[in-house]
Amino acid sequence: MSNNTVIKQRSAESDTATPVIAVRGVTLRFGGLVCLSDVELTLNRGEILAVIGPNGAGKTSLFNSLTGVYVPQEGSITLNSANGSTHALLGQKTHVVNKLGLARTFQNIRLFGALTALENVKIAAETRQRTGPVSIMLGLPNARRAERASDRRAHNLMEFVGLGDKINELASSLSYGDQRRLEIARALATDPQVLLLDEPAAGTNPTEKLELAELIRHINAELGISVLLIEHDMRLVMSVAHRVTVLNFGKVIASGTTAEVQRDPAVVEAYLGAEMAAEMLDAQAQEEE
Ligand SMILES: Nc1ncnc2c1ncn2[C@@H]1O[C@H](COP(=O)(O)OP(=O)(O)OP(=O)(O)O)[C@@H](O)[C@H]1O
Ligand SMILES: [Mg+2]
Repeated sequence: MSNNTVIKQRSAESDTATPVIAVRGVTLRFGGLVCLSDVELTLNRGEILAVIGPNGAGKTSLFNSLTGVYVPQEGSITLNSANGSTHALLGQKTHVVNKLGLARTFQNIRLFGALTALENVKIAAETRQRTGPVSIMLGLPNARRAERASDRRAHNLMEFVGLGDKINELASSLSYGDQRRLEIARALATDPQVLLLDEPAAGTNPTEKLELAELIRHINAELGISVLLIEHDMRLVMSVAHRVTVLNFGKVIASGTTAEVQRDPAVVEAYLGAEMAAEMLDAQAQEEE
């Protein structure tokens, strides 16, 4: 069976008319601390949107709000599915949000270190199977078929993320960069429409960063998955993102194309500073070469 039949292909065509994710007026408080304040964010179908901002700006909290880990006190988060259905995500349980088509990776890698790389992905693939626990226990034919399908799917995803030669290694023994790839494979195994990546390049070396940029572009273009990317590495942001939303102290201070955002005086002043602006311009110059 080819990769194409197992890794479900979706149209990579950008349908900008309907956002796949619409965050509207989201406010999240912890006691007196306002973590997110009236946040508006739009992820268009087929798009890679970067979410940037200094430490503590609320980026991970935004992901946690999208995935049911945090429940903001105000606002709405809407998922417009590829099949035309619409879902209110705010307040939904994490596993429900995942079933609806959002998958994520974590800022601090969360893998089953004592399992092999392949097993980590298989477990996630199995959450997509409809076989009940009794069928699995009795080894009924449909359970065996489902097991083979998850196994195939996990193998294909390992190849897709470039870990095809490391399937039997323990997750804990993989390099940092490979662990980050494995987390991405695991997220893809749940067959998402939207992939949320929380600092996927953190702790990786320059070569791994370039490979990661390519992988993110492939996920977007070949699998047709819309991507929300939290990232501090401006080179990576500039090389993969179609648009950028900037958070500062829980507020969106700018949203637009990478070129628009880096010229925005509020961004330069409140967040980027001269140093970061120079880094962004430098990254853009390299992109254009
Ligand atoms: N569960 C929580 N309880 C209390 N405060 C929280 C909680 N989660 C996040 N915060 C606070 O919300 C703010 C935003 O944190 P968050 O982790 O979302 O920032 P971030 O933009 O992801 O930062 P970084 O770039 O360092 O990862 C911080 O002040 C943080 O301490
Ligand atoms: Mg964070």
